[in-house]
Amino acid sequence: MKYLVTGAAGFIGTNFVYHMLEKHPDDLIVGIDNLSYAGNIKNLDEAQKNSNFVFRKADITDTEAMTSLFKEFGFDYVVNFAAQTHVDRSITDPGIFVRTNVLGTQILLDCARKFGIRRFHQIGTDEVYGDLPLEATDKFFVETLPLKASSPYSASKAGADLLALSYHRTFGLSVTVSRCSNNYGPFQFPEKLIPLMLINAMNDRELPVYGNGMNVRDWLYVEDHCEAVDLILHKGRDGEIYNVGGHNEMHNIDIVKIILGELGKPESLIKYVTDRKGHDLRYAIDPTKINGELGWLPKTKFADGIKSTIHWYVDNKAWWEEIVSGEYREYYKKMYENR
Ligand code: NAD
Ligand code: DAU
Repeated sequence: MKYLVTGAAGFIGTNFVYHMLEKHPDDLIVGIDNLSYAGNIKNLDEAQKNSNFVFRKADITDTEAMTSLFKEFGFDYVVNFAAQTHVDRSITDPGIFVRTNVLGTQILLDCARKFGIRRFHQIGTDEVYGDLPLEATDKFFVETLPLKASSPYSASKAGADLLALSYHRTFGLSVTVSRCSNNYGPFQFPEKLIPLMLINAMNDRELPVYGNGMNVRDWLYVEDHCEAVDLILHKGRDGEIYNVGGHNEMHNIDIVKIILGELGKPESLIKYVTDRKGHDLRYAIDPTKINGELGWLPKTKFADGIKSTIHWYVDNKAWWEEIVSGEYREYYKKMYENR
């Protein structure tokens, strides 16, 4: 079997490539990425030693490049991780989110149609449902909820989901969509909460907590997400959406305190800063459908996953030091100075 994995040099794409090489040792994995600020080719150093892995630098919004890639490989499966993914960046520059997440997905879907594939899996997000009230702890995201995206990021992801599903209904393309909650684990770019706080704490810098820190996210270890995608891709029902998450809701401030505690750093590093515009209050996945149909449940307990994630960042200083010493410095200044 031949798989196209887009966004392969990003956080989840990288973890998925390693997952697939281990779980499907007889298959060919072709990873592509345009190596934007979030894509790091060094993530794939180990994968490149495996003859079942091929990497190509390519942009999903480039119709010609995608057409020749599909023609060259004749893919069986497409898993589309490639996206602009950071909510804060979508608030300052929405255009690239629409181009990448909506137009890029449409170009891939057209190639899938034209060349024929077994299945196209679209990686969606739980953010398309908007948010849940903080106090209504008996309410969860189910697949049948209406879409109510809050940010340009989540609106563009909702557009991509709907396009993928429309190609199933209109053209009969085999499509599945997963909508996952917040991932954490190795290789996450340090613009996101956990790696940003970890790195700041290690450098004795302030930890910028938005608003009062009480917003809730539902955290999932990245390998559990990779397993869910692998399962849906091969066993999920055509045209279906699967929510992926494991009832692990936490307030942001509690995550920050766990990180500080684990690193032995003082809570005086915490700085409450101006809130994110349109900040979603609470995300919480109901995984009943994927559990009932495919038997999936997360395997990693948060207490274990966060410890191994912290140790990964402690042990891979060179990986993140290279990132935070580059253009990231400008990003950080723009986003956090005088906030
Ligand atoms: P990421 O930003 O780390 O990775 C995205 C990758 O896509 C990067 O390597 C980037 O260079 C690449 N990319 C961007 N534009 C591209 C283009 N035009 N052509 C080719 N490659 C391009 O993000 P991530 O956290 O790994 O997210 C991967 C996917 O999972 C996204 O679709 C995201 O919406 C979704 N998702 C993420 C989470 C999470 O918590 N991180 C949760 C649910 C869903
Ligand atoms: O739910 C899935 C989504 O999770 C994915 O679709 C997105 O791609 C991914 O980025 C993530 O979105 P969030 O906005 O929830 O993640 P982020 O890490 O940016 O923020 C998590 C929470 O932490 C959120 O409530 C905002 C807060 N935060 C974030 C940063 C970067 C802070 O308080 N301070 C910060 O500096």
